[in-house]
Amino acid sequence: MIDFQHVLDTIHQTAQKTDDRGKIADYIPELAKVDKNKFGIHLVNMNQENFSAGDSNERFSIQSISKVFTLTMALGLIGEKLWTRVDVEPSGDPFNHLSLLEFEKGIPRNPFINPGAIVVADVLISHLKNPKDEFLAFVRNIADDETIDYDSTVAASEKQTGFHNYAAANLLKSFKNLENDVETVLDFYFHQCSLTMSCAQLANTFYLYINNGRCRRKNTHLTSGQVKRINALMLTCGFYDEAGEFAFEVGLPGKSGVGGGIVALHPNKFCVATWSPGLNEKGNSKLGMLALEKLTTETELSIF
Ligand code: DON
Repeated sequence: MIDFQHVLDTIHQTAQKTDDRGKIADYIPELAKVDKNKFGIHLVNMNQENFSAGDSNERFSIQSISKVFTLTMALGLIGEKLWTRVDVEPSGDPFNHLSLLEFEKGIPRNPFINPGAIVVADVLISHLKNPKDEFLAFVRNIADDETIDYDSTVAASEKQTGFHNYAAANLLKSFKNLENDVETVLDFYFHQCSLTMSCAQLANTFYLYINNGRCRRKNTHLTSGQVKRINALMLTCGFYDEAGEFAFEVGLPGKSGVGGGIVALHPNKFCVATWSPGLNEKGNSKLGMLALEKLTTETELSIF
């Protein structure tokens, strides 16, 4: 039996002693206000036993981690048709790069780079009556937590500086891969990214991806084939141009966000979320990556 609590405590102690914590994302001004010394880690296993250390109950901006939830909802709504509008290949590029999008005629490489996530947001808007409300209700349902909410200050802050995302949405529109107007789609996208959740909430929300598509409320949201697709995309595309490094060092599917969160999972075994706001040069949480590498090395629980 692995003593997860002991492993998390050791990881937390190492994190506390680490000075080089990377750099906080400041291109969204609201994110720059967060204390760089925060560190949280939370793990939930298949039996729904919870283990945590550090600031694991403090909420932060989940940013791109939300792309896993929009993808889940879109797959549930339109199934395999989604792949006619967004591809499933790693990009090897940073999350906000646009050059491939032009080159590949408006079909984003995958649903986790920004242009791909903007297409997924467009799908949700086309299929939902009240997209922001229904998406929030969906996340609360899979999380089994009615307190999760958007942070409208963060959404507004990103809107003010979201020139790259406006460029991406306009390019998608010009290639006829956006059904709704740019403003509506980006308003939804900035809100999904502004969701605030703690490591404990994230780990428990990701439970459905280790449990064959069945969430904590015992509702089935995905077929096992769809879970396979989402987990495969997290492994190959979840960390942008650092996806190879994450698979190499950690060996788990996962997803990062520029708020400093990372969620990773081992199907049928556990989900784990970390939060440390300082990012490395590739835009992924510096201490989060180190913590997860330590977790899978010490427990010998990678998918490989
Ligand atoms: O679109 C953006 O730039 C942000 N809302 C999300 C970026 C992000 O989290 C990338 N992930 N590491």
